[in-house]
Amino acid sequence: MVSAYEAQSAAQILVASNRGPVSYTLATDGSLDAKRGGGGLVSGLSAVKDKLWVCAALGDGDREAIRRGVGEQGVRMLDIDAAVHADAYNGIANSVLWFVHHMLYQTPLEPVFDAEFRRQWASFETYNRAFAEALAEEADQGAAVLVQDYHLALVPGMLRELRPDLRIGHFSHTPWAPVDYFRLLPDDIAEQLLHGILGADRAAFLTRRWADAFIGCCTEILGGTGRTRIGVHGLGADADFLRGRAHEADVDERMAALREQVGPGRRTIVRVDRTELSKNIVRGLFAYREFLEERPEWRERVVHVAFAYPSRQDLAVYRDYTAEVQRVADEINAVYGTAGWTPVVLHVKDDFARSLAAYRLADVALVNPIRDGMNLVAKEVPVVSDHGCALVLSREAGAYEELGSDAVVVNPYDVSATAAALHEALTMADDERAARTERLAAAAVALPPQQWFLDQLDALRQEA
Ligand code: G6P
Repeated sequence: MVSAYEAQSAAQILVASNRGPVSYTLATDGSLDAKRGGGGLVSGLSAVKDKLWVCAALGDGDREAIRRGVGEQGVRMLDIDAAVHADAYNGIANSVLWFVHHMLYQTPLEPVFDAEFRRQWASFETYNRAFAEALAEEADQGAAVLVQDYHLALVPGMLRELRPDLRIGHFSHTPWAPVDYFRLLPDDIAEQLLHGILGADRAAFLTRRWADAFIGCCTEILGGTGRTRIGVHGLGADADFLRGRAHEADVDERMAALREQVGPGRRTIVRVDRTELSKNIVRGLFAYREFLEERPEWRERVVHVAFAYPSRQDLAVYRDYTAEVQRVADEINAVYGTAGWTPVVLHVKDDFARSLAAYRLADVALVNPIRDGMNLVAKEVPVVSDHGCALVLSREAGAYEELGSDAVVVNPYDVSATAAALHEALTMADDERAARTERLAAAAVALPPQQWFLDQLDALRQEA
């Protein structure tokens, strides 16, 4: 499909996000290793020629790269003071905004908005201002600027003041909280966040549900969305890339290793996540435990292959959650395991090739987040599956809007229903599982990353 944007305009495009497309680590010999990131935004942008990606330096390696003048064409890393970044990223973005949008707070101890919160909020403003100023400096007259996610919610408003000539878009990759939950935030902070995003010409979301929640917040708290247009772009899986990558030699090797760990003739229930509170990994393990308890006929015949990759380990609550995942997996193995059968195979070291191997092998994929902006695992599994895979899917994942009709749908808090869903998925007839996988794959690739990105650009320009 030829993009109207490509056809009509060669204007410069800027993208801003906390995490950029490349990061550096400092090796012991003093050299810098560059690691390229993946994800929808990286592949989405690969089609765009004249672009500049503005991102934050995330660690010592990135800061050293800036000092040495090492970098990639088209990427500008901002050397934001490490303490300011820690307050903004760990303190506000990941401990407050992430928790609000994923509805993760647990009363009676959370949340507390006190003087320490105000101090961190000031850092969040400083960090957002650093992005707005860099974008204002870099942007050509009339350029399109696409600001990403909750970390940078204040940037559109700040940037509009500095450069009213720009076309500004904001994209939320997370859910958006319903107004009653969003109102946990102090009133002035809630207003500032909404005004920040409404500084954009267009605010876009992954699903209609999150867009409507945002509109609901703006309507109740501010009286409306003003001049800002609201859009929905449901990021899909990158079929060409995934199908190619899933058949490379390293993936085949990992499949052989996984098959050996699972054991001959056994079925597999696969999950792949960051070790993230919203992914609901522990309740997934509880559901599997209840399934083994209630359906003893499945013991020795099934293995739960769970990949839980480290995430946000600076935060104690994430470290505790990681330990809890390990503890529950060990406990299930201790109670149910036998000499020749390990009921849960848990891997915690991030390995994309092994994830793809598990996708190909899976009989059942378990995707049960408490809330999730989209969840690309739910979309990637059916695309690369070798023999068809039944999908157990939370109705609270954004992907539910597109995949719900061919998945076994669960309430993520209902452990017993999830256990029953695992049984239903495992006993699904082969031809039905194959037919459903085919329909899931077709729905999953409807809007591949490049088109997803170009559609946003088109809309931003056309609504000018
Ligand atoms: C979510 C967010 C992204 C974020 C990613 C990984 O998908 O929407 O903005 O980059 O999680 O989290 P991290 O904190 O490691 O960047």
